[in-house]
This record gives sequence, C-alpha cells and structure tokens, in this order.
Amino acid sequence: MAPSTPPADWISRKALLSLHKSARARFVWVNIRHALPRSLRSYTRRKHRAIVLWWALRALRRNPRGNRKIWHDLVYGWGNPRWSALPEYLDAIAAAASATSGPVLECGSGLSTLVLATIRAGSGRVCALEEDAEWAARVESALARHGLTADVQYARVRRYEHFDWYSVDPFALPVVSLVVCDGPRGSTRGGRYGLLPVVGARLAPGCRILLDDTARDEERHVLDRWATEYHARIELFEGDEGYAEVWL
Ligand SMILES: C[S@@+](CC[C@H](N)C(=O)[O-])C[C@H]1O[C@@H](n2cnc3c(N)ncnc32)[C@H](O)[C@@H]1O
Repeated sequence: MAPSTPPADWISRKALLSLHKSARARFVWVNIRHALPRSLRSYTRRKHRAIVLWWALRALRRNPRGNRKIWHDLVYGWGNPRWSALPEYLDAIAAAASATSGPVLECGSGLSTLVLATIRAGSGRVCALEEDAEWAARVESALARHGLTADVQYARVRRYEHFDWYSVDPFALPVVSLVVCDGPRGSTRGGRYGLLPVVGARLAPGCRILLDDTARDEERHVLDRWATEYHARIELFEGDEGYAEVWL
C-alpha cells in the first residue's frame, strides 16, 4: 500500500532537485544574459522590472497593509532606488494611510504616489506636489498605466523669505490629516522646513506628518525647527535612511 505521506528523504530529494533546477536555470539565464547585446540586456531588465512592479501593485491592492516582499518588489520594480521611498518608509506610509481617512498631501512624487493611490483607491484624494515637470509627467503616466488616480501638481520650488519651497496656493489644497513628506530635494534651501509655514493652515488638528530621510542632518534640523517653532511632537525611527512621525 502506498504511504499517505511521502517519506522524508523523498521530500528532501524533491526539494534538492527543484533547487538544483532553479540554480541551473539561474546559471543558464546569467550566461545567456552576458551573451546578449547590452541594449537587449537593458530591455529585458526593464521588462522584468515592469512585470515585478505590476505584480507587486496587484498584491498591494489585495493586501493594502503590505509586507516585506511587496515593498522590496516595488522598490526593485520602480527602479529608482537612490531616490525612491525604501521599504521601511513604504511600510510606515501604508500603516498611516490605512489608519487615517480623507485626502493625503504628498511632497515629492514617485513610487510613494503609486503606493498611496493604490491604498486609497476610491477612498480619498491623493494630492502630490512635484517640483520637476518631466518627473511629474513620468509619475502621471505610471499612474495611468496601472489604472490609478492621484492629483500630481507641478509646483516649481520658489524663494520664500528664509527658505525655498513649492510654489502653491495653500487654499487650493484640501485640508488633510496625513502628509507624506519626501520632497523637495535635499539640496533645497531650508530643506523640507517650508511645509509648516506655507501649508500649515491646511493641516487638520492632529495631522500626522511622515518625514523621510531623517538620518540626514538637514532633516534633523527641520525637525528641531518644527519642534521649537510649531510645538510639533516627534518620534524618530532609525533605519537605512530613517524617518520620523510628526504630530501637530
Ligand atoms: C526623494 S525624491 C521623492 C521620491 C518619491 N517619494 C518616491 O517614493 O519615489 C524627491 C524629488 O527628487 C526628484 N527625483 C526623483 N527621482 C530622481 C532622480 N532619479 N534623479 C534626480 N531627481 C529625482 C523628484 O523631483 C522628487 O520629487
């Protein structure tokens, strides 16, 4: 009579065989890739990234709270890791977006815009300020490709009295209870400080701000100023790039 469960050594042989097969498949693929012309290699990498991004957004739609694999696949699939939100920050965004309702303001668009638009699909506006017109167009086309909606507003960075920040009419923005603050670029005069003086009036009482890149001195300085001048409460999260949760 056949055993109802396979013997242990049968399982390990099967496991080893499949490992061997996938290792061999990887070996073959690596060698084929090296033999391909550079343009074809970069084409296949782009296609692979696009497929991974598509699957990861699909997985996020089904599980809006996300998980490690989804965050890593999104970062890989988006293909802009030096500039995009990293897994730890994406996880914080998903937690905050699931815990709050209403419109979200984002400063600095990109992968995080796709994540917010996926989590908030059909349940609240995502308004993203973007300083670079070409980048704004690229983010908009990625949103459209994935059937997502967000309001990406091109707003060049302009000079205010003691700092630079996006040129926006604060009263054209919705009142929000969540801000994802990952822009303007680090090289901006005053960094991301301008959020509170320029659009502070549009932040609902108890509004939560997620500030990225707090491992950098510029962002620490911004936090100090917000705490002193706006009595902001701050919780820091260490990590590759670090981020902070700020409450008003
Ligand atoms: C830190 S990035 C924002 C990243 C965004 N939150 C994301 O998750 O992808 C801040 C700004 O840098 C600019 N930027 C994005 N990718 C860039 C790149 N590869 N090179 C130069 N600037 C870039 C865009 O204007 C963006 O708003």
